[in-house]
Amino acid sequence: MAVLKLLGILAAIYPVASAVNSQSYTWKNVKIGGGGGFVPGIVFNPSAKGLAYARTDIGGAYRLNADDSWTPLLDFADDSRWNYWGVDALATDPVDPNRLYLATGIWDPNNGQILISTDQGASFTPSQLPFKVGGNMPGRGMGERLAVDPNLNSVLFFGARSGNGLWKSTNFGQTWAKVSSFTSTGTFIPDPTDSSGYNSDKLGIAWVTFDSTSGKSGTATPRIFVGVASNGTSNIFVSQDAGSTWSAVPGQNTTFLPHKGVLSPVEKVLYVSYSDGGGPYDGTLGAIMKYDIANSKWTDITPVSGSDLYFGFGGVGVDLQKPGTIMVAALNSWWPDGQIFRSTNGGSTWSPLWQFGNYPDINKYYSYDDSLAPWLGPNFVDTTLGDLQIGWMMESLSIDPFDSNHFLYGTGSTIYGSRNLLQWDSTHNITLKSMADGIEETSIQGLISPPTGPSLLSAVGDLGGTFFSSSFSAEKNIDGEVALLGFVHNSLTTAPQTEFQNPKWSTSADIDFAGNNPTNIVRIGTGDSSQGKQVALSTDSGASWNQDFGAADNVQGSYNLIYAALSFVEEFAGGKVAFSADGDTVLWRTNSGQGVLVSQFTNPFTSVSSLPSTAAIASDKKNNSIFYGAAGSSFYLSTDGGKTFKVTSSLGSSTSPVKIVVNPGVTGDVWVSTDKGLFHSTNSGSSFTTISGVSQAWAIALGAPSKSGGYPALFAAANIGGLGYFRSDDSGVNWVKINDAAHGFGSVGANVLTADPRIYGRVYIGTNGRGIWYGDASGAAPPPTATAPTTTPTSASTTTTSRPGTTSVPGTTTTKTSTAPTSTSTGVAAAWSQCGGQGWTGPTQCASGSVCTYQNDFYSQCLPQ
Ligand SMILES: *[C@@H]1O[C@H](CO)[C@@H](O)[C@H](O)[C@H]1NC(C)=O
Ligand SMILES: *[C@@H]1O[C@H](CO)[C@@H](O)[C@H](O)[C@H]1NC(C)=O
Ligand SMILES: *[C@@H]1O[C@H](CO)[C@@H](O)[C@H](O)[C@H]1NC(C)=O
Ligand SMILES: *[C@@H]1O[C@H](CO)[C@@H](O)[C@H](O)[C@H]1NC(C)=O
Repeated sequence: MAVLKLLGILAAIYPVASAVNSQSYTWKNVKIGGGGGFVPGIVFNPSAKGLAYARTDIGGAYRLNADDSWTPLLDFADDSRWNYWGVDALATDPVDPNRLYLATGIWDPNNGQILISTDQGASFTPSQLPFKVGGNMPGRGMGERLAVDPNLNSVLFFGARSGNGLWKSTNFGQTWAKVSSFTSTGTFIPDPTDSSGYNSDKLGIAWVTFDSTSGKSGTATPRIFVGVASNGTSNIFVSQDAGSTWSAVPGQNTTFLPHKGVLSPVEKVLYVSYSDGGGPYDGTLGAIMKYDIANSKWTDITPVSGSDLYFGFGGVGVDLQKPGTIMVAALNSWWPDGQIFRSTNGGSTWSPLWQFGNYPDINKYYSYDDSLAPWLGPNFVDTTLGDLQIGWMMESLSIDPFDSNHFLYGTGSTIYGSRNLLQWDSTHNITLKSMADGIEETSIQGLISPPTGPSLLSAVGDLGGTFFSSSFSAEKNIDGEVALLGFVHNSLTTAPQTEFQNPKWSTSADIDFAGNNPTNIVRIGTGDSSQGKQVALSTDSGASWNQDFGAADNVQGSYNLIYAALSFVEEFAGGKVAFSADGDTVLWRTNSGQGVLVSQFTNPFTSVSSLPSTAAIASDKKNNSIFYGAAGSSFYLSTDGGKTFKVTSSLGSSTSPVKIVVNPGVTGDVWVSTDKGLFHSTNSGSSFTTISGVSQAWAIALGAPSKSGGYPALFAAANIGGLGYFRSDDSGVNWVKINDAAHGFGSVGANVLTADPRIYGRVYIGTNGRGIWYGDASGAAPPPTATAPTTTPTSASTTTTSRPGTTSVPGTTTTKTSTAPTSTSTGVAAAWSQCGGQGWTGPTQCASGSVCTYQNDFYSQCLPQ
């Protein structure tokens, strides 16, 4: 049913099926080395050796491989299903290990769904839920909220948020019904005053745990525990009749919120971790309790007390091979580091992963290995707040049910684990290793591929707005996750050694290079005033940075301006940045209420009042004086180094331009994507051609041409008879679709693109949650079927051509509003060479077998007939 409904919606939005031919592409993640974002859940299947899954809050779910790498499962999610990447709960079937269930939804405007797989996540069928699922909401590390009955696997329970209560399926997750007898839907709200809704929603049901020992295979398990996000009132409930009736577990302590309830079946014990916050980045007190099911007896087994207890607890792991061996993680111990405790006697005594020696020395009962993600290491985090080597936001911790030496836990930025865990109990010294290889969970804000130096530089941030709170490290943002700054990607297949250093901000917001001096880079950040100037320059392709705005640091002008810009609005600068062609002028459209700013020669930034504060901006890549802007339906040009802008023309009925890209080789050759399509100018915006067939466009990029000397390949995230990622080798006349059903790239509007100026066909897609992808053509391009206008376009003339592989897209109507003079030369141009364009004095006749084909006002080319 759900599938049919979805198809129906798609058909209504996109009446044209596959209007543009496809070219096969090979898509791979640019390797950052694992993690980058929060991993709130890691779940081992108790019946199939080696089978485990991890869920993330913005980057989908993953299955563990035998070599410790992870396989992403939700990369097919496209714009219509981008909320699949927020996974609020995960259940792997103990009876039929091929079955996997994910509760997905980010807390976007759409309701969530249970994704059902019968092939360990190779494919999924959605079952729509009548409410939202908060994969990126507070309390997302509690759990798991979704559970499969270990005795009758057609039965599942799912604990909803927002007061929606407990839900049950009896048909392998296909349909769901509310459990009306379960009335405690959770009272806890992180911040009732939060008008954004993010923190003012009830966390709801926190976890569902079957007592597998209470039943027998083939009939529904009678005893089920449910933890609820309430405090000050009962928050752990039990059913003895397979969920028909419920009662509060007697003797429970309701001071804190129960984050996890983990069964140790041989002991017949339920271990519960508590925190005084919903998580994932808060908590200053908590407890670990065990509930002895046979005797109905609670025992407080919290590993530390008094002044040593300044955190709540998150992850709980039990060793199924060694009953009584348990591990618990401090949810957030911000100083001096995260902490994990282990007990081999059911919590009577504990040992820590580290301990103070002679203060401030720390005895680390581990050796640390971040070889898979070297940027993670101790130098990455803020040492004034402690190394935080072990991590933070440690909501998930699991011991491999088949291997006592193997455990994994999730943090705000990666998965750590060990393959020699039993050494904890012998030499008390384990190897702690970053083990998130294959989990690329970053939110990419900006990408550049300069023509020289490293092929790719990234500005990396986190979902949505970023904020800084002095109670956290300067490097945690709204999700409390580590804020990544961005990287120089010297290799696409090896994790970078380090992030951008000095300065470090909460997030890097954007990045640009100077067209004539492409080792010169500017980047801007998002952070509060304590993080200083949110703009930095590099002259060595991002290896080092300086912030000498104001000519010298003791000249206060720019420092104060930027500082003021930031302190007025508390925290943000962010926005977009453009670097002039020679690299002496920075144009910065802030998000901070300071509008557009410009600085030349690192002089103090001054306001640019003639460009709206919402404008898309770009620099010309050849002429140092020229910048472009677009806002509403207007296109803006500056010829004085960004000091003043004038409207030159309109962009049809556009209301929100997205991106301006400029031909790196030709001044004034400009593309603009908007909510109404794609527009091209060859005269610095005096006039625009509307690229027809493109009804909406988001990120766009220009890369290496298909033929030497030809027009750059054009890439667009666009709606061209359907949403997708497209390439045109002839300036928007013919398009090929380059993404496929397995690569949806999530929310199209959130993504950024850049194309490689050195490798034809290569494009980089920066996603909001699944890191950076690079794509290379792996199949032949479908032959072009549309022909560009062969007559010299005259003012306001209209030429109609046909579209490749298209049956029902409206014909390609190209409206020209300018004239390209042609040469009077009488020679003959060879196939593939230039045969016309503004200023062209060479031959305009093409060698036989080819025809002179208009590409843009500056360039016509002899293309095969
Ligand atoms: C619940 O926890 C919050 C956060 O710690 C606290 O402010 C509140 O007083 C608690 N409520 C009760 C009833 O214990
Ligand atoms: C409940 O737990 C809190 C926090 O650990 C503790 O202070 C309190 O004494 C406990 N209450 C009971 C009745 O055990
Ligand atoms: C644990 O082993 C590592 C690596 O051999 C060593 O550096 C560290 O000092 C050891 N920890 C303790 C407390 O002996
Ligand atoms: C750059 O553009 C400006 C403004 O249009 C123009 O005056 C100047 O001549 C151009 N510079 C070069 C080198 O073409």
